[in-house]
Amino acid sequence: MSSREVLSTEQRRGAFSSRKVFIFAAIGSAVGLGNIWRFPYVAYENGGGAFILPYLIALLTAGIPFLLLDYALGHRTRGSAPLAFRRMKKGTEWLGWWQVGICFVIAVYYAAILAWALRYTLFSVDKEWGADPNAFFGEKFLQGTPASDGITLDFIPGLLVPLGIVWAATLLVMALGVQKGVGATSVVFIPVLIAAFLILVVTALTLDGAMSGLDALFTPNWSALGHTSVWAAAYSQIFFSLSIGFGIMITYSSYVGKKTDMTGSGLVVGFANSSFEILCGIGVFSALGFMAQAQGVAVDKVADGGIGLAFVAFPTIINEAPAGALIGILFFGSLILAGFTSLVSILEVVISAIRDKFEMTRIGATLAVCAPAAVVSIFFFSTSSALHVLDIADNFINKFGILFVAVVSMVVLAWVVRALPVFTEHLDRYGSVSVKGWWTVLVAVVTPLSLGFVLVDEFRATIDEPYGGHPSWMLNTFGWGIAGAVIVLGVLASLVKWRPETSMELPPAAPDPASSTSATPTEEANR
Ligand code: ALA
Repeated sequence: MSSREVLSTEQRRGAFSSRKVFIFAAIGSAVGLGNIWRFPYVAYENGGGAFILPYLIALLTAGIPFLLLDYALGHRTRGSAPLAFRRMKKGTEWLGWWQVGICFVIAVYYAAILAWALRYTLFSVDKEWGADPNAFFGEKFLQGTPASDGITLDFIPGLLVPLGIVWAATLLVMALGVQKGVGATSVVFIPVLIAAFLILVVTALTLDGAMSGLDALFTPNWSALGHTSVWAAAYSQIFFSLSIGFGIMITYSSYVGKKTDMTGSGLVVGFANSSFEILCGIGVFSALGFMAQAQGVAVDKVADGGIGLAFVAFPTIINEAPAGALIGILFFGSLILAGFTSLVSILEVVISAIRDKFEMTRIGATLAVCAPAAVVSIFFFSTSSALHVLDIADNFINKFGILFVAVVSMVVLAWVVRALPVFTEHLDRYGSVSVKGWWTVLVAVVTPLSLGFVLVDEFRATIDEPYGGHPSWMLNTFGWGIAGAVIVLGVLASLVKWRPETSMELPPAAPDPASSTSATPTEEANR
């Protein structure tokens, strides 16, 4: 294939205009709801200060090495997840579609949480939740019905309208394309998010009782390190939070110039994400410390994770804190900014795959993906059964979707495709940090073994104790059912024939830097 043809293929698929935009987009994807509401509580529940050790070990031995694997795969093959696997070896394409399926499921419920955050940003102004935010959230806002009532199709306008707005905004950004939509959104949103969150953290730190919150978060409980569940928590946190294992980084790296330093970029993204995560821990626990002191109870009585933290604990803090409305707008606004740049990255995996497979236009693929996703999202998450479905789908797709596909794809790439020598050479060609030797050992042996162990343990635990006390038909449908369906659909999608014009050959490798002539301004921006 001539370089002209490659260029035109890249122009057709879309591309980031520079390495800077790629890094912003990758950080935008990584920093999301997982950082703000998941990390603080996961850390606190799993050993507090002592959690930092498994967290760092998981980051350094699994997170960053896997991030570089995703980068190498997407950057070398220049394809969406299914095409990237297909170009490496026939018969592995289904792994890419499995990841596409996982992204579709996550996008459907992730959008719902953004919609709730949108309403809560407005509620913050006059504290619409009143004196009892817990009752407000469950009874008035979600109008939740017990799980035993099954799936109820009574649409709630207060959920439907913001969800419609989130999907309309997402559709617009996705239709604008890789650079003007996805890239530009991250370049604008991420600096605003960092500024807003810094103001929030400083405000939270000045509240009475903040230090007792930080004490609770950072006091190490070393005995926790003996529990496998703590290590499982560290690995799942790192994979979800870094956006690895579900096709995002494969897709994004296929949009960046061939001569880009991918290893240096990976380190920047990995450490930026973890730094933000620790900042979130500090901000959230300072606020929880204030709430505990105000209510005269210990921090463990007010610490909560996920939905409870955002939509019950924070409104309570906002009720009691000086400058509560400001804290509310900053907190829920940050959830929206961080979550939106993650949502677009999750959808980009699906859109890019559909475009590659069916040679569709950007607008056509955007509509083909976002319209059904919005319908499913509205169907399940603007009704009174929203909370049960969300909780189950999130838990199962994280463990038996993301972690599972991560282990399988690592084993396949390392031991079946034997791709690691090609990838090592590729990463080292323009990379500022050499991966020779150490990286192969981690990706081929250490990470699959440790992650495999964690996964088997989680599987056993989930069989022994049905998750969250939900009825088994619900767990079988929205948990095991969805996690299994994405694998089956992945295999089926891989049986669909590619268009004759799509090349299955690996594109030419980037030129050797030694023989490369002086760089053009575009190439310079990409390095
Ligand atoms: N990485 C994204 C998050 O943390 C998906 O929410």
